[in-house]
Amino acid sequence: EIIELLASLTEQIKREIAIYINRRGLVTSVSVGDLQTVSLPDTEERRSSSRLSGIRCIHTHPNGTSILSEIDVSALKLKRFDIMAAIGVDDGNAVDISFGYITNISDENVSTNIVGPMSIDQLLEADFVIFLKEIERQLVNGERLQSTGTIEKAVLTGLEQSGAWDIADSLRELEQLAETAGVEVVDVIWQKREKPDASTFIGRGKVQEISLLVQTREANVVIIDDEISPAQQRNLEQALGVKVIDRTALILDIFAQRAKTHEGKLQVELAQLQYSLPRLGGQGLVLSRLGGGIGTRGPGETKLEVDRRKIRARISDIKHDIENVKKQRDLHRKARQASKIPAVSLVGYTNAGKSTLLNKIASANVLAEDKLFATLDPTTRRITMTNGLDVLVTDTVGFIQKLPHQLVAAFRATLEEVVQADLLIHVIDASHPQHEEQSDAVFKVLGELNVNNKPMITVFNKIDKADKKVIERLLRTEDSVAISALTGEGIELLNKLIEERALPVVVDMKFLIPYNDTGVLAQLYNQAIVQSVEYREDGIYVTASLPIEKRNRFNSFMTGDV
Ligand code: GTP
Repeated sequence: EIIELLASLTEQIKREIAIYINRRGLVTSVSVGDLQTVSLPDTEERRSSSRLSGIRCIHTHPNGTSILSEIDVSALKLKRFDIMAAIGVDDGNAVDISFGYITNISDENVSTNIVGPMSIDQLLEADFVIFLKEIERQLVNGERLQSTGTIEKAVLTGLEQSGAWDIADSLRELEQLAETAGVEVVDVIWQKREKPDASTFIGRGKVQEISLLVQTREANVVIIDDEISPAQQRNLEQALGVKVIDRTALILDIFAQRAKTHEGKLQVELAQLQYSLPRLGGQGLVLSRLGGGIGTRGPGETKLEVDRRKIRARISDIKHDIENVKKQRDLHRKARQASKIPAVSLVGYTNAGKSTLLNKIASANVLAEDKLFATLDPTTRRITMTNGLDVLVTDTVGFIQKLPHQLVAAFRATLEEVVQADLLIHVIDASHPQHEEQSDAVFKVLGELNVNNKPMITVFNKIDKADKKVIERLLRTEDSVAISALTGEGIELLNKLIEERALPVVVDMKFLIPYNDTGVLAQLYNQAIVQSVEYREDGIYVTASLPIEKRNRFNSFMTGDV
């Protein structure tokens, strides 16, 4: 309302109008004329030199652009305004808005950060009171405000429910995840409760307890060990006064930092955007748009988009790009199938040691250079085993309990490698106390991908630090081997198993088809790659490359290998 009024008055008098608003939302002064010529109101509410004035200055720019002038910025510094905002007015309408705020105050210098121009709608999503409290807290503590790089301190919390993972274990994992994301965990607290509270997830009483903890431990983020709804997130942020993120956002954040390939980056960004779309009203995102930090970081250096319309457009662009990548992959796959090289996929819980193992297998064997697959994802290696067998080994995304479903969906293209693989190697960290639960979580995802019946080698890794008795018991699993990807122990055994199990997908065979069975030739054309056909007296002589699983169908016509 005020913005509209300011815009229309500015149009009428063709001059700048400034209003000054205190933290209680009251307009304390109004001035007309540019900031250079009017005297700025005294900002008595200022409490100390390291503090802000408690006053927001919002003024208009009749020239149609909201970009802050030098005068605006020097007034911001001089008066220590909480915010200095400018509204670009064109033809009586507020076009956009920009604002600046103070990020650091030292003896010699006051630094500022400028945000915008942005749309008025975007601005209205922000809760400036919370934002300013955070800025002040950091100013008082002498921390330098930066868009990223400030250490975030987190309180972790979750619900203890029957039938779920043990809450202490789950929170321990959450703690590791938080640390991976660069967050310092200052406290962990949980509540026994069967059903989450509809509006705040955690029960009300507990929320108050957490609120106290946040204050005493000076935390600036609360992380929930489960996925919460956008409304729950908003309510919690309101009640706690700090950013609240959930396990899903945390995992997405880590994936965003780790995604290396073009495809991986696209997939993570897609998952993040889909996750954030219904949450844009939440203060977490708005806060972090201004302050940065966990939950807002996109793949690479990019920051997540926060404008709904732009997000929708970006989502459809990414989907299109992913579709293209998928087509390329399909081509590669066809080329691979034609070249008959068996494909092996490494699967396993996060941190089980898949990448380390891939490197070890590659160095124990010959890493074959092959132009054909040169453009494949770098996580796929073509390896010539000691018996001369070529295999393609692919590392896949690490699985995790409560893997965000957006991520599973987004990674479907990568996980298709698993679906198409001839052999799976399931890597398990045998030294981890929860290795059984972790293994179950992996099987759950494999079940979702419908690949539970594929040939599988189970690798118990990290035996250098695992309990020997546990290993003995584990090794009763069929087709299993105990190794240390780090020291190389057991790798030879694993290589042997791979050589045995990674059978070529396609075999070249000779056939003799009698003339009264010519239908078989049509079937061969359908299901195999026919290399040669020769019509002779006693029948049709055919050589064809046949997928191994189809071999039995043509048994009675086979005359031998090529
Ligand atoms: P994600 O990328 O999260 O899926 O992990 P990953 O399964 O690829 O695990 P990675 O190879 O990155 O290994 C995780 C950690 O375990 C690293 O710190 C490795 O050094 C360590 N590690 C891997 N294998 C062994 C092992 O045999 N023994 C020991 N002690 N540590 C290992």
